Amino acid sequence: MTTATTALDQEIQRYAEANPASAKLNERAKKSLPGGDSRNSIWWKPFPVYIARGQGSTMTDVDGNERVDFISNMTTLILGHRHPAVIEAVEAQVDRGLSYPAPSELVIEWAELICERIPSVEKVRFVNSGTEGTLNAIRAARAFTGRQKIVKSEGGYHGAHEDVAVSVNPSFDDVGDELEPNALHDYEGISDRVLDTTIVVPYNNSEAAEAIIRANADDIAAVIIEPVSGRLGMLPANPEFLQTLRDVTTELGIVLIFDEVISLRVSSGGSQQYFGITPDMTAMGKIIGGGLPVGAFGGKNEIMELFDPATGPRVKHAGTFNGNPMTAAAGIATLKSLTPEVFQQIGSKGEDLRTKLRSLISDREAPMGVTGVESLFSLQFTNEQIVDYRSLKSADKTLADHMYLGLLNEGYALSPQCAGNISVAITDDQVDGFVDAVGRVLERAGYG
Ligand SMILES: Cc1ncc(COP(=O)(O)O)c(C=O)c1O
Repeated sequence: MTTATTALDQEIQRYAEANPASAKLNERAKKSLPGGDSRNSIWWKPFPVYIARGQGSTMTDVDGNERVDFISNMTTLILGHRHPAVIEAVEAQVDRGLSYPAPSELVIEWAELICERIPSVEKVRFVNSGTEGTLNAIRAARAFTGRQKIVKSEGGYHGAHEDVAVSVNPSFDDVGDELEPNALHDYEGISDRVLDTTIVVPYNNSEAAEAIIRANADDIAAVIIEPVSGRLGMLPANPEFLQTLRDVTTELGIVLIFDEVISLRVSSGGSQQYFGITPDMTAMGKIIGGGLPVGAFGGKNEIMELFDPATGPRVKHAGTFNGNPMTAAAGIATLKSLTPEVFQQIGSKGEDLRTKLRSLISDREAPMGVTGVESLFSLQFTNEQIVDYRSLKSADKTLADHMYLGLLNEGYALSPQCAGNISVAITDDQVDGFVDAVGRVLERAGYG
């Protein structure tokens, strides 16, 4: 009988043997890039694979290993790699120029597509990352309300800027009271000032969140929340929690920001349409750029008007590549391909995958679960029902690492947290193949 650690060691060895060219590239990369890349979120032990090409539902690495891509660049590539409509639009734009020092008509069309789909977004502005999307939405809320503090959830990820780099992955030893979580730095280098202005509430606990918001009401500019939490495993919020946030922020004159950087994927009008709850501001990213760097923020006219240079602006907003025509072209082509039927198709494939995974896990009596909604899913490595950050405490990290590397060895790519998503390019056979592969990894981990 092998112990879990030994089984993981064997998986790591298999991985190293299958990826010698990536190992070599990683050694070279580490000389000029810390860890060998520019993005910690896609780094893993012992080294990441380096990708040579993506096509449709698959990615091929520098060793020639082809894997079914259930990451889609962290939920971005909703049409799969190199979708013909997107490639055609980008190539056409290459012929017309890569970026301009003045707006183009493309940006208007792109903005119109977003405002039509998401009625709460009366006006929108484009940026180059989801991080900038949430940053500007928060800045707008501060200017609009004249208040300084913001509220976010424990375990909520809203990008890499200071205000929100608080209690995303806090140590369970330091988190404090369940009903009044401590605000904690996520890593070194974050300014101490944010601990005075960012307030943390438990996800999905309406009563606790409302009490904290009421106690700080006069100082709070915005509540920012993911209606579907990426860090908690693509977990849809309890609708009653979102409704409570909507009601209390309306009553207290606080701006409610939905971070839909991931959750815009759950329907053509995003998760706000799915839940039937309307925020004041929305931060966006990922799918709206068709695979090129993107972010956006938008919402109520009276808030977005703060950015209008003709009447101020009260909030300055610049960015050399904001609304650049290449991303606009890819974004327009993607949004036009994403009809409500397409969202429905990938959503039901996601439901099918989750059902099959749940049945496998229960047959094997593995200490695992499955979370997700529509085209988004995640494996969980605990039997506990996931409702908030603290429910992740009992997760079996060794099994999670084994599953992640094991699936790469089997030819399937998930995010390092074992979250995934369905793109339009994923077939039913690939869904079934994935579930079988999870079964084989479980067997190697001792759950035969
Ligand atoms: C919910 C959420 N908000 C914001 C961001 C930040 O987006 P970006 O990585 O484009 O800066 C992410 C990125 O994964 C995200 O998942």
